Amino acid sequence: MQKQGNAIGIFDSGLGGLTILRSVRSLLPKENIIYFGDTARVPYGSKSKETVTSYSLQIAEFLQSRKVKLILIACNTASALALEAVRAASSAPVLGVIAPGAKCAAAASKNKKVAVLATEATVKSKAYPKHLARADKKIKTAQYACPLFVPIIEEGLLDDKLTALVIERYLKPVKKLKADTIILGCTHYPVIKDAIAKTLGGKVQLVDSAEEIAKEAKELLAKNNLLKKTGPGKTQMFVSDDPKRFAAMAVNIIGGKKPKVKQVRL
Ligand code: DGL
Repeated sequence: MQKQGNAIGIFDSGLGGLTILRSVRSLLPKENIIYFGDTARVPYGSKSKETVTSYSLQIAEFLQSRKVKLILIACNTASALALEAVRAASSAPVLGVIAPGAKCAAAASKNKKVAVLATEATVKSKAYPKHLARADKKIKTAQYACPLFVPIIEEGLLDDKLTALVIERYLKPVKKLKADTIILGCTHYPVIKDAIAKTLGGKVQLVDSAEEIAKEAKELLAKNNLLKKTGPGKTQMFVSDDPKRFAAMAVNIIGGKKPKVKQVRL
């Protein structure tokens, strides 16, 4: 068991949040992390606000039962639909990924045209256009739902002709927009970042929330005097479906040895 308030809790619908975990581990190597991937119920991106909120609240409760000192919602869909509800229900502070991603994109864009690739639910929520307009009124935002990316990544089809075709198809209208900055508005998408960049031809900047949310987590913990002083930190991983499958796929994203993953039923 972790000690009271000792770990950072991170959650996503599945593997995508590992792109956030990777950044948090690299910036805060002394911290303990508890990761939860809701693999039994992935994808979240095609589900309603009520459903995603109820799943997110269950996971936040699980993380709090393990005494986390901070919760990172490493899922754009849950951040867009359930951040306020999770904050209201949690005694630990809660950070989402939309605001950090929007902040990075607003700072990066020169021609003030930003495209957002995200799940259907994130697109529908308009969370990114709202945050980008707040950061810079001149920014014009166009959003594109890419519903096939998550199942492709969860299936591990990273280097596959099918993936290249789907990327090509989703990016066709995006290329016409001539945006100089594209937000990977789903934490799964950085897993296929190189393939996306290749299709775009290198003239655009691809932005995601991983580094920025890790920085925000560090600032928040430092401000509250909660940074762990000695390391190395340990990572515990939990999923709601087959742990073996998740462990095998996780290596593709975080590298290293196959992690130990436990299954829990919420
Ligand atoms: N990785 C998540 C996101 O950032 C969820 C994707 C999904 O489950 O549809 O939106």
